[in-house]
Amino acid sequence: MKKVLVTGGAGFIGSNFIHFALENMRDITIINLDALTYAGNLENLADLEGDTRYSFVHGDICNMECLTSIFTSNEINAVVHFAAESHVDRSIKNPMAFILTNIVGTANLLNASLHAWKRMKESQRSAFRFLHISTDEVFGSLGADDPPFTEQSAYAPNSPYAASKASADYLVRSYERTYGLPAIITNCSNNYGAYQYPEKFIPLIILNAIEGKPLPLYGDGGQIRDWLYVDDHCAALLKILANGKPGQSYNIGGNNQCTNLEIAHQICTILDELLPDSAHKPHEHLITFVKDRPGHDRRYAMDTTKIKRELEWEPHFELNEGLQRTVRWYLEHKKWVERVRSRPSYNDWIVQNYASREKETR
Ligand code: NAD
Ligand code: DAU
Repeated sequence: MKKVLVTGGAGFIGSNFIHFALENMRDITIINLDALTYAGNLENLADLEGDTRYSFVHGDICNMECLTSIFTSNEINAVVHFAAESHVDRSIKNPMAFILTNIVGTANLLNASLHAWKRMKESQRSAFRFLHISTDEVFGSLGADDPPFTEQSAYAPNSPYAASKASADYLVRSYERTYGLPAIITNCSNNYGAYQYPEKFIPLIILNAIEGKPLPLYGDGGQIRDWLYVDDHCAALLKILANGKPGQSYNIGGNNQCTNLEIAHQICTILDELLPDSAHKPHEHLITFVKDRPGHDRRYAMDTTKIKRELEWEPHFELNEGLQRTVRWYLEHKKWVERVRSRPSYNDWIVQNYASREKETR
């Protein structure tokens, strides 16, 4: 049995990963350490209650005592580190939270892991993995005709979020090079799918459209992201956990480059079909251009040649199929949506982020 410490497992990708890993690997048990910030939601994992292969610890990666206690009471074979402040717009309003969790928290987790790793038997030490989940945003922004980012692209983070993730990546890299901790970094593009907190673009557009609210597109809506269905990300992470090489980084991407405006149109078309009696049809009439995000990166794209060649991973889901599944998931999980959006932390954020973005005419 492999015992894996997952951090941030009550969030979007973390909760999908826990489900995916338990379904696809028999020989795994998972401890989920999560601080349950506004983005953490144990409801995402409610179906695992009573599953002996899964346990939850409510704690903060910035709390060294908590980390030490987990490592001393368990023989951890791998750490999969998702815990982070993850929303770019929030990092613009409150960068310190990102610096604390994403940089200091990661440093703490590295120290606790290193301490535990040093005390392991040699066979356990070589099998141990520290898998750090990072982002394509560390590479900065591409021009329209630039080739996609490779693992060799220079770091050029533009938002406080991206800078905090880049700093964390450098720390992980240094612990591998300096101390030999078997660490791997993954840099992934934009994920979408079930359980994504509805402050992020795709769930926000889906839910606003269902309710006939404006669909806010920052700037001209021409920014490009490389969208990846979250299950594909989870599959890539399992492959890397099993066969990735310590000291390496791997790009993960969807090969689905699309502008925000195109994404909004696709969602509207899907909703027109799924909700033929909606009073808000055609939903695309709800698209509204609003004030841009400061320092907004224009384009991300990932070259995934390395992970395809070395680990035989490639994305399975076409964008339209992934979007269909995602729209259906939000339509079928109204209670989940209601509960998430009834918390003050959600409404406060919506007011804070959108009240000052006056409508722009184009
Ligand atoms: P999320 O915001 O949905 O979830 C983050 C989780 O981390 C939450 O459960 C939260 O409670 C927990 N957390 C936050 N601070 C913590 C702390 N100090 N201690 C313990 N737990 C804490 O984020 P997500 O979208 O699932 O992203 C997960 C990871 O993947 C992040 O590291 C993010 O940078 C990275 N990533 C995300 C995307 C994406 O498109 N969402 C793409 C590439 C990489
Ligand atoms: O690229 C990977 C990153 O993707 C992850 O590292 C981040 O954790 C994740 O949040 C995501 O960052 P983005 O900033 O790309 O995602 P977001 O969903 O916030 O926005 C996607 C695009 O849509 C971006 O160009 C901004 C735009 N947008 C977003 C919102 C919330 C809008 O036009 N309107 C909106 O209301």
